[in-house]
Amino acid sequence: MWSPPRTALVTGANRGIGLAIARGLAARGDVRVLAAARRIEDARAAAATIGAEPVELDLTNPLDAETTAAWLETTHGAIDILVNNAAVLVPGDGLQVSTKEFARSLAVNTVAPFALMHALGPGMQARGWGRIVNLSSGWGAFAEGMAGPAAYATSKAALNAVTCAVAQSLGPSVKVNAACPGWVRTRMGGSDAPRSPEQGAETPIWLATLPDDGPTGGFFRDRKRVDW
Ligand SMILES: NC(=O)c1ccc[n+]([C@@H]2O[C@H](COP(=O)([O-])OP(=O)(O)OC[C@H]3O[C@@H](n4cnc5c(N)ncnc54)[C@H](OP(=O)(O)O)[C@@H]3O)[C@@H](O)[C@H]2O)c1
Repeated sequence: MWSPPRTALVTGANRGIGLAIARGLAARGDVRVLAAARRIEDARAAAATIGAEPVELDLTNPLDAETTAAWLETTHGAIDILVNNAAVLVPGDGLQVSTKEFARSLAVNTVAPFALMHALGPGMQARGWGRIVNLSSGWGAFAEGMAGPAAYATSKAALNAVTCAVAQSLGPSVKVNAACPGWVRTRMGGSDAPRSPEQGAETPIWLATLPDDGPTGGFFRDRKRVDW
């Protein structure tokens, strides 16, 4: 059951959709937000504008990120909501992208979200309540042709698979879902995108605050289930 205040950790909360998610959750008044960024000064700057608490969380090395997330619970208290938002978009098709950049994409976009779920999910399960949102993309959906750059599309397809696997392990009190925000005006999405960061944040915020009879193990855009 929703019993406020809940604590949410949002990765990549210093800009783009992550900042909009953190701002939207903080504005509810019943969610304490830990705004994570890989540089603490960026986290501080963002947190100060939205009424959140800044935390440093670099996802480059997923094993370090897992340790840091566990440590955050000892310093900031139990984390009930995890929004795996941070990601990198490396250009290039399957021959153009280097193996190094491919591996970095999977580390930041897939393995680090898994590591954070691994660190925080069991606590949510033990407390009988949790919400996990993985920011995915239609570019990583087989149903939409895996249309994105190779490393990015692969990392998001794998994130979708991880979403299913972890949802099966943590359910039913911990809802684990993937969200596609649509095409959004951010540094990643570019200035031609039709959606604002706030519009992109809407479905992730909904999934982060689902009621107890809400879905788990799904992939959503505009609050509607979409095919993997
Ligand atoms: N924009 C779109 O049209 C669109 C469409 C579909 C899905 N998405 C997904 O939505 C999410 C947010 O995208 P966005 O458009 O807001 O992207 P963005 O503007 O490029 O922001 C990316 C965020 O991820 C952080 N990040 C990158 N590498 C990191 C690392 N190693 N450790 C910690 N943080 C790291 C960045 O931090 P720094 O500032 O330190 O670099 C930044 O806060 C992503 O998962 C993206 O794949 C976006």
